[in-house]
Amino acid sequence: MGNSIFADNILEGKVAFVTGGGTGITGGVARAFAEHGAKLAITSRKVENLEPMKKTIEENGGECFAVSADVRDFSAVENAIAATVAQYGKIDIVVNGAAGNFLCAADQLSANGFGTVVDIDTKGTFNVCRAAFEELKKSKGQILNISATLHYLATPMQIHVSAAKAGVDAITRNLSVEWGRHGIRVNGIAPGPIEDTEGMKRLLPEALKEKITKKIPVGRFGRIKDIENAALFLTSDAANYINGVTLVVDGGQWLLGTSLG
Ligand code: HXC
Repeated sequence: MGNSIFADNILEGKVAFVTGGGTGITGGVARAFAEHGAKLAITSRKVENLEPMKKTIEENGGECFAVSADVRDFSAVENAIAATVAQYGKIDIVVNGAAGNFLCAADQLSANGFGTVVDIDTKGTFNVCRAAFEELKKSKGQILNISATLHYLATPMQIHVSAAKAGVDAITRNLSVEWGRHGIRVNGIAPGPIEDTEGMKRLLPEALKEKITKKIPVGRFGRIKDIENAALFLTSDAANYINGVTLVVDGGQWLLGTSLG
C-alpha cells in the first residue's frame, strides 16, 4: 500500500460485508478497506468472480471471506450474513455494490428487463440492509450504498437503472432516519463515469471516450481510487456525524446536464 492519503489503521478491527465486492468499483472499495485494517467478506452471484479479489487481499496481508449470494434472494443474503458472523463474530460495515446494467431504450425494454435491474439494485440493497440490521444494531455499524447520478436529470437508455438508483437513494435517506437512533449511519456514494469498470465498458464505447472527457468539468474520467477514497472517508470516524448523505463523486459531470452518449 503506502500511497494512501489515509492512515493505514482507520478501519482497524472492523468487519466489512461488501456485495459485488469481487470486481469493479466495489472490488476496489473492498481492497481499500482491507488495506486500512478491515476484515472483508465479499459476495457475488458467482464465487469464481470473488476468488481473484480474495487472493489479492490475502496476498497483501488482509483477511477475506468469499461467499456467494444473489442479492435478489433474501434467504441467500441471510445465509451470507450468518456465514460472515460465524467467520468473524460481527459486521460493522455493509457496502451495497451489486448492480445490474445494460443500455436499452424504454420502448424496447421488457417488463422483466426493467424488473431485473430494480430487483438487483433496489430490492437487493434493501435485502442486504434488512438482513444485516440486527448485526449493525449490535455493532453500531453503518451502511454505504453505491448509487449513480443518472436519475438527477434524465439519462436515455437507462430508465431501468435510473429508477433503480432513485430507489437506492430513497433507501439511504429512509434508513438513515429510521436506524440513526440505533447508532447506524447510512450513506451513499454516487459515482460519475469511472474508467476501467464493467459499467463503463457496457455504457460507453472506447471511441467516445475523448469526446466525453471534454464534458467532465475536471477534465478526466473518474478512477476507482476516487471512489475508494470517498468510501474510506464516509466509513471512517472522520464522518461520524454524516448520515443520510449520498456523496456525488463525479468531477462535477452531472451539473453540466449532458448525457454521456
Ligand atoms: C435489453 C436485456 C439486456 C440488454 C438483459 N436484458 N440484458 N434487455 N438489453 N442488453 C433483459 C433480458 O432480456 C431479460 O428480460 C431480463 O433482462 C433478465 O435478463 P437475464 O439475462 O435473464 O438476467 P440475469 O441473468 O439475472 O442478468 C441480469 C443482468 C446482469 C442485469 C443482465 O447480467 C448484469 O447486468 N450484469 C452486469 C453487471 C454490471 O455491469 N454491473 C455494473 C453496473 S454499473 P426478458 O423479458 O427477455 O425475460 C452501474 C453504474 C451506472 O450500475 C452508472 C454509470 C455512470
